[in-house]
Amino acid sequence: MADSKATSATGGGRYTDFFNGLFARAVHLLAKRNGAGRDAYIMAYVELLPLAKCHTGRGTYIECGGRELAVFRLVEPERIFVIDNTCPHANGNLSGGDVEGDIVSCPWHFWEFNLNTGVCVHSDRARVRRYRAELRDGHVWADLDAPIPAPWKDPCAPCDT
Ligand code: FES
Repeated sequence: MADSKATSATGGGRYTDFFNGLFARAVHLLAKRNGAGRDAYIMAYVELLPLAKCHTGRGTYIECGGRELAVFRLVEPERIFVIDNTCPHANGNLSGGDVEGDIVSCPWHFWEFNLNTGVCVHSDRARVRRYRAELRDGHVWADLDAPIPAPWKDPCAPCDT
């Protein structure tokens, strides 16, 4: 897997991603402050990239709102998953891992994570943060403010290679 960390998958560049994320966050906070309720939640979604730019069978790396993300496009049935790109074991690049079924395998030491839950297959104490994602008009959107617990490193995990 080539290192795709150098540029954003949207082709918009880091500054565009940064300002898109910043704008979405500002709108979300303003709506929340004004008591917009569910609308505030909806406004937290940000556009990540066109579906056509998503790889199948492996992840697509993207930076957005100061986050490093891995977008996974699974087919039959078509599903989209967005998780943090950084493996909780030793910061491996999860977007570069192989995908089999709903499981992504970190390319560094092969910890496997269930994309439905973010939980490591080998130890449920290790997990990656995931975000609600959906398709809108052929583009992937994700709620980067989803209240899902942050990942943490499991010192007793089975992989020590
Ligand atoms: S860095 Fe991912 S398994 Fe080690």
